[in-house]
Amino acid sequence: MATNITWHPSLSRAERNQNRGQRGLTIWLTGLSASGKSTVATALEQHLLHLGLSAYRLDGDNVRFGLNKDLGFSEKDRNENIRRISEVAKLFADASTIAITSFISPYRADRDFARKIHGETQGGDEPLPFVEVYVDVPLEVAEQRDPKGLYKKARAGEIKDFTGISAPYEEPLNPEITIKTHEKSVEECVAQIVSWLVEKGYVKSA
Ligand SMILES: Nc1ncnc2c1ncn2[C@@H]1O[C@H](COP(=O)(O)OP(=O)(O)O)[C@@H](O)[C@H]1O
Ligand SMILES: [Mg+2]
Repeated sequence: MATNITWHPSLSRAERNQNRGQRGLTIWLTGLSASGKSTVATALEQHLLHLGLSAYRLDGDNVRFGLNKDLGFSEKDRNENIRRISEVAKLFADASTIAITSFISPYRADRDFARKIHGETQGGDEPLPFVEVYVDVPLEVAEQRDPKGLYKKARAGEIKDFTGISAPYEEPLNPEITIKTHEKSVEECVAQIVSWLVEKGYVKSA
């Protein structure tokens, strides 16, 4: 634990957002492997960028190539994976960017931690909005898609601790948004998220 540390304030959140011309927030996608998190996150990022907004995607595998290359898939490592991502997403949101995360993030406690820290701010700043998006798809559909052949390997016992097969997935109890990627197209899922953001005033136009 670090001690003797002091927070150094700079511009307020309101000034920073005004300077960037947009609000920073985190859009947190959660769901089974192959539920469509990366696909939707990428399309959403592109949509927001095309609107002229600053958006940045933090994706499961990408982050494990660098920041979290020292972590595996045990429950402890998954906790630490999500803890670091939560803090990084918060930094992006604090920098008035729309952070989009696409991690399975199977444990409710980890997602609640991410939400909690977005609410903890310094120097009287408003909390950073945290938008939990449940990418909901039946396990059978995800397993049928199996774009990376991971379910097949998990069923064969070649991958242990695989979410939905040999490790748990705890469904969100109260997500801001639920998208059903087996019922709607990628474009429709993106539109659903964007209209929600516009409705809440987080994004000006769609
Ligand atoms: N509406 C949809 N939204 C997202 N992905 C979809 C949808 N319909 C079909 N898919 C397919 O499902 C797969 C999802 O894979 P991916 O985005 O990598 O999932 P995840 O990141 O959750 O593991 C892709 O092959 C994608 O083309
Ligand atoms: Mg993915």
